[in-house]
Amino acid sequence: MPTAYAPVRVLVAGAGAFGTEHLDRLAGRSDAKVVGVADTDPAALERIRSRHGVVNCLTDPSRLIDSVEADAIIIATSATSHVEICVRALGRNLCALLEKPVAPSAAAAAPLLASARSSGGFVLPGHVLRFSQDHVRLVEIVRSGRIGEVIYANSRRYRDDSHAVRYADIDPVLMTLIHDIDLAQWVTGSDFRSVLARRSGGTGGRSMTAVCATTTTGAPCDLRTAWTFVDGDLPPDHLEVVGDRGSVVLIVGQALHVYAEGRRTDYAPAAADDPLRNEQDHFLACVRDRSRARALDLPQALAGLKLADAAIESLRLNREVILSA
Ligand SMILES: NC(=O)c1ccc[n+]([C@@H]2O[C@H](COP(=O)([O-])OP(=O)(O)OC[C@H]3O[C@@H](n4cnc5c(N)ncnc54)[C@H](O)[C@@H]3O)[C@@H](O)[C@H]2O)c1
Repeated sequence: MPTAYAPVRVLVAGAGAFGTEHLDRLAGRSDAKVVGVADTDPAALERIRSRHGVVNCLTDPSRLIDSVEADAIIIATSATSHVEICVRALGRNLCALLEKPVAPSAAAAAPLLASARSSGGFVLPGHVLRFSQDHVRLVEIVRSGRIGEVIYANSRRYRDDSHAVRYADIDPVLMTLIHDIDLAQWVTGSDFRSVLARRSGGTGGRSMTAVCATTTTGAPCDLRTAWTFVDGDLPPDHLEVVGDRGSVVLIVGQALHVYAEGRRTDYAPAAADDPLRNEQDHFLACVRDRSRARALDLPQALAGLKLADAAIESLRLNREVILSA
């Protein structure tokens, strides 16, 4: 375990777009030191070597985990490799920040739970919006009771159509709507009992997906993602929670409005917030202090995956899917 003063020794698996986002932030930190990077693509490793001068750059994450002394790992490879790499890391008692989706399905994630139970390390699922100041404020407002009991939520996330090419091997439900699923779990604080999903405008990634998931308390949550926009100006991400005495709406990067007690209250969005940096702060603090309460845990991420699986099943069957308890 790192001492209170030594930098946390971090491995990074995956040096693509998001791995690079992590590495750029780690490079600016004095409380962490990147001691190795793995990526199956030698060109990605070469980019990182010249950008950050990391010495241990290997094409095999398992070999990196086995050969380089470290305290923690950030796993930002493609989803199909998450479980294998994370299980290996947990076997070496590393703490893992595991990018979403933590696995390609809930069934595939089962080994993670078993490995986490017997490891000295832990898994922090990389649901970065849990660390966005504006989302945290929205959830605080909901929890304060100002808008009453939650009876409805909706969340939308529209992306440009390059996503359909860049992430051709993964369903938009798992790639982007998984954020909205996690937000729905977080804001309602509830499990889900059923899901009905629809897709239009295309059969593959370049399409619009609309999911209605209903909590066990009966609150419908409309979750939408589209990968149909041409690169440029996109409608902002949007999260609305309706209670039985008011509502709160976050237009990401623009505004947070609360409608309660007969009036509208406006909050300016947090200035210069960096949720990924905040997530790293939290992860590194948890690595230093294993007794610290983590913002979310593996069972919560697995519940989200179960809902994502059910949404994909609903698309396949073209009907509502009931979730098992
Ligand atoms: N939290 C967020 O907002 C957010 C945003 C984007 C991506 N992500 C997640 O980050 C992960 C990576 O996404 P990305 O956009 O960087 O994708 P990417 O395709 O740009 O990068 C993935 C990298 O992983 C490497 N890789 C794949 N399989 C590997 C393996 N078995 N071992 C080692 N390297 C391997 C690839 O060569 C590639 O360089 C995904 O899980 C994605 O969902 C999260």
